[in-house]
Amino acid sequence: MEQVVHSEVTVESNEERMRTVAVILAGGVGVRVGLGIPKQLIKIAGKAIVEHTLEAIENNSNIDEIIIMMNAESIHELDHLRKDDRFSKLTRVLPGGETRNDTTKLALAALPDNECKVLFHDAVRPFIDDRILDDCVSALDTYDAVDTAIRSADTIIQVDDDGCISDMPDRSVLRRGQTPQAFKLSTIRRAYEIAADDPNFKATDDCGVIFTYLPDVKIYVVDGTAENMKVTEPIDIHIADKLFQLQSKSLSADSADLPSLTGKSVVVFGGSYGIGKSIAELTENLGARVFAFSRSETDTDVTSRSSVRRALNRAHAEAGSVDYVILTAGVLSVAPLVSAPKKEIKKTIRTNLTAPAIVAQEAFDFLKESQGSLTLFTSSSYTRGRAGYSLYSATKAGVVNLTQALAEEWDEDHVRVNCVNPQRTHTPMRTQAFGKEPENTLLSAEAVAEVSTRVMDSTMTGQVISVRL
Ligand code: CTP
Repeated sequence: MEQVVHSEVTVESNEERMRTVAVILAGGVGVRVGLGIPKQLIKIAGKAIVEHTLEAIENNSNIDEIIIMMNAESIHELDHLRKDDRFSKLTRVLPGGETRNDTTKLALAALPDNECKVLFHDAVRPFIDDRILDDCVSALDTYDAVDTAIRSADTIIQVDDDGCISDMPDRSVLRRGQTPQAFKLSTIRRAYEIAADDPNFKATDDCGVIFTYLPDVKIYVVDGTAENMKVTEPIDIHIADKLFQLQSKSLSADSADLPSLTGKSVVVFGGSYGIGKSIAELTENLGARVFAFSRSETDTDVTSRSSVRRALNRAHAEAGSVDYVILTAGVLSVAPLVSAPKKEIKKTIRTNLTAPAIVAQEAFDFLKESQGSLTLFTSSSYTRGRAGYSLYSATKAGVVNLTQALAEEWDEDHVRVNCVNPQRTHTPMRTQAFGKEPENTLLSAEAVAEVSTRVMDSTMTGQVISVRL
């Protein structure tokens, strides 16, 4: 038995452990979502759905190789993934077939003769997680075929040709099938070979082919998750978007470690008080070289392009790079719009929306060089405008849209941009607008700084990360 020894850790050789290939099925067009592009290419949280799926599978230690079967007409849209160093397991992007089963058949034809474990996963289930992948791979040590499924919350009924109920199967034994569906390569090949002789072949997934043509093969069922949904209907895009936001909640967990920022440089606009000040202090404690700019201390006006440019140039000249740019500067004045002073309107829009756009434009080249990130700030009023601070709400909604759009525009250059959405936070700006409020109803600026620091150093992009008490 060959063993590979990495320092203290003994790793089993590949001769011992059967190789696992994941096939991402992306051959469809997504008629039901109906957006005019294959639904696997729709961007959510800054990336195409298929890229999220690829990322999740790439990061699973049980998967050795990945093949994407892509809708033939749009196959060139994935060229950049093949060149991307982050996807070292992705060996091929091949054209899919007419139906989902045709796509599987083409994948089977492309796989080598040696026995291996093969997982088929829908490209449009981006919330696949390690637990499901691990369970599927290890179940193949015992079984030759594995499905993934969840219980049904809805009662499933059977209807007849007249649209009336013909049967009501017991819900407790029913499951809703998901993917991955995993097989020993020889087993799924055999099933498709037998199916090829059936002129009435009909199936919608791969376990169905085993079930019909190799009825003696037991198909083990691994528990899926509600999150492992398939983006199918237009509403699923909104649900998926929300799920990505929820996923990022783990960044708020107290237990999550703060990153080491040694050797990094951080530019904070609005760094002399409130959240900006806390971020400057925290990132400095984490080892970063910090450049805090503000009107009061460095005479830096975020609404002035030359002022922003000067600040960034200075940081770059002194530190040699600009890795993270954070903009916390903002204004909040409380008054019904009709009675708001005219100059307040201009000031709110300039500081809260024009400034993020200016900072984004000016920071881009630096962040492209460092492969760094921009972090902006929104407010919980971005989802619904609030009486008394209409323009503040409106500009904060604008910042969210700006973040999402920039994440798409900057994706190829690997510059990330996110937006932190702190709940009511104890800052001078808030006290000035709302007076003194009970301490225990407010987040501390330090807590928001911790989450912001994790966000700026994470791989996520195009996300709104809510920080709650
Ligand atoms: N799929 C595939 N090849 C096909 C059809 C579907 O690889 N010829 C893939 C899809 O890309 C998707 C998965 O199978 O990742 C699940 O299929 P489904 O949700 O039905 O996708 P579409 O066929 O794209 O959707 P629609 O039926 O709405 O057109």
